Amino acid sequence: MTDADRLPMPLGEAMYSMRAIRRLKPDPIPDADLRTIIEAATQAPSGGNGQPWHYLLIRDPDQRAKLGALYHEAWWAKRRDAGIHGPDDIPESDRVTRSAMRLADEIGAAPVIVLLLATAHGAGAMGSVIPSVQNLLLAARALGVGGTITTLHADVDARVRALCEIPESMQIVYCLPLGYPRGRFGPLNRHPAASVTSLDRVGAATDWD
Ligand SMILES: Cc1cc2nc3c(=O)[nH]c(=O)nc-3n(C[C@H](O)[C@H](O)[C@H](O)COP(=O)(O)O)c2cc1C
Repeated sequence: MTDADRLPMPLGEAMYSMRAIRRLKPDPIPDADLRTIIEAATQAPSGGNGQPWHYLLIRDPDQRAKLGALYHEAWWAKRRDAGIHGPDDIPESDRVTRSAMRLADEIGAAPVIVLLLATAHGAGAMGSVIPSVQNLLLAARALGVGGTITTLHADVDARVRALCEIPESMQIVYCLPLGYPRGRFGPLNRHPAASVTSLDRVGAATDWD
């Protein structure tokens, strides 16, 4: 069986139900599935086919706990930059931020945390690894594994590098917890395509409904 054969879910079903999954079961992801997910990620396009990506899979419980503590600090550092200093500053109605806050408490319990690294610095390398993260999450979705894209904060960069022995030549792009969902996949809440599409000139509407 090829890696492609291991992902039989229709593309449309995966794309239209692959929402951010932040509440994860601690159950381990079989190594064969993890490998399929990463193989799919590596099928993404990149500038000049440079493939400047590296997937650091954090599975060791102690390593996950340490990274989880740094993620928690990073999450609150980002909020502090935005003038948010504690849970009371986040309205109950802001469900996305509330959910992200919970993830900051729980990320260390995800069975796998993927640090998506670029093997070089700069916007070009970062842009070239971004398509692969979508491949990764779609393949995970096809295997019933959820996760979400997150970013770290400069405050913890040096300590994450030291913890994970990430060389200075590499750039930390994303931090993705992966695991089986405690909730459900999909549906998604997105603007209609017609509202974000123009024909020939920006603002000239399509005749799509
Ligand atoms: C570039 C990028 C950065 C993101 N950063 C975070 C993050 O730091 N924490 C988090 O919980 N979710 C993060 N997300 C997930 C988004 O919040 C989520 O995809 C968005 O709210 C849409 O929700 P849905 O995918 O569940 O439909 C990020 C997504 C992207 C694409």
